[in-house]
Amino acid sequence: MSPSTPSSLVQAPIGLFDSGVGGLSIWLALRQSLPKENLLYLADSQCAPYGDRSPEWIVERTLRMAQILVDQGCKALVIACNTATLVAAPTLRAKLSIPIIAIEPAIKPAAALSRSRSVALMATSRTLDSSGLQNLIQRYANDIEIIRIPCPGLADRVETLQLSGPEIEAELRERLAPALQSQADTLVLGCTHYPFLRPTIEAISGSRFHILEPSFAVAAQVYRRLEQAHCLNSQTQAGSSAFISSAPIEQARAVVQVLTGLAEPTMLAFPTQPLKTR
Ligand code: DGL
Repeated sequence: MSPSTPSSLVQAPIGLFDSGVGGLSIWLALRQSLPKENLLYLADSQCAPYGDRSPEWIVERTLRMAQILVDQGCKALVIACNTATLVAAPTLRAKLSIPIIAIEPAIKPAAALSRSRSVALMATSRTLDSSGLQNLIQRYANDIEIIRIPCPGLADRVETLQLSGPEIEAELRERLAPALQSQADTLVLGCTHYPFLRPTIEAISGSRFHILEPSFAVAAQVYRRLEQAHCLNSQTQAGSSAFISSAPIEQARAVVQVLTGLAEPTMLAFPTQPLKTR
C-alpha cells in the first residue's frame, strides 16, 4: 500500500461476477492466492446461462452486474465469465474506472503446450461465435487446429449441482467424442463452470489431454493489478468472503456451500433498488 492510498480502498472487496456459480472456480483460486483480500461474489443465476443469449443482451446485463459491484464499493472487478469477457469487456472497460481483470479461454498456453498442434476447446456457443475468440486464435494459435466443442446446457448442470453420475457422464462422453477421435492432446475448459466437471471429464478421458483452465493465472493477474494500483490488502486476519445471487437466497446458499466448501457462507441480498445509471 502506498502512503497515499486510503485504507478504505485497501480494505474494499474485490468484486467477481459470473452468469451464475461458474465463477466460483475463480473465487477458489483467488481465495487461495490472495488470502488477505476481502471478496464479494455476484452470481446472476436467475439469468444463467448467458451462453445462448444475444450479444446485446449480454452487454446490457453485464453492465448492470458490474454496476452492482461498483455500488458495493469494490476496488477491482473480475469478470469471472468467458462469455461476458469476450462479448462485453471492451464496453465495461470504457465505462468503468476501477481495474477490470477479465478471463478468456486458455488458448495461448494451450498453443504453447500442444505437441500434436491440435487443441480442443469446450465453451458456450456465444464464446465460440465471438470475434474476441477469433482474435485470440489468430493472435496465438494461427497454426493450431482448434476443435470447437459447443456445450449448450452444460453450465446449467453445474448450476443444479449435477457434477457426476451416469447422466452427466453420458452427456460429456457425447460432447468429448470429436476431441477423443482427433489428434488433440490439450483440452481447454473455456467456461468457468466446467472446472467443476473436471473429475468427470478426467474419468472419461483418462490422461489423454492436458486440461487447461486459467483460474490461477487470473488470480496472479489480480495480484499484479492491485500491486500496481497500490491497493493490496495486507491486513493480518484472513480476508472475508460474501456472496450475492439473483436466484432465491436459500437456493443460492446451498449451491455456494457445495462449490466453495464453506459450511456457512455469508449471503447478502440481491439489490432490489433500481440500479443507478452512470
Ligand atoms: N461461466 C460462463 C463462462 O465462463 C458461462 C456460462 C453461461 O452462462 O452460459 O463462459
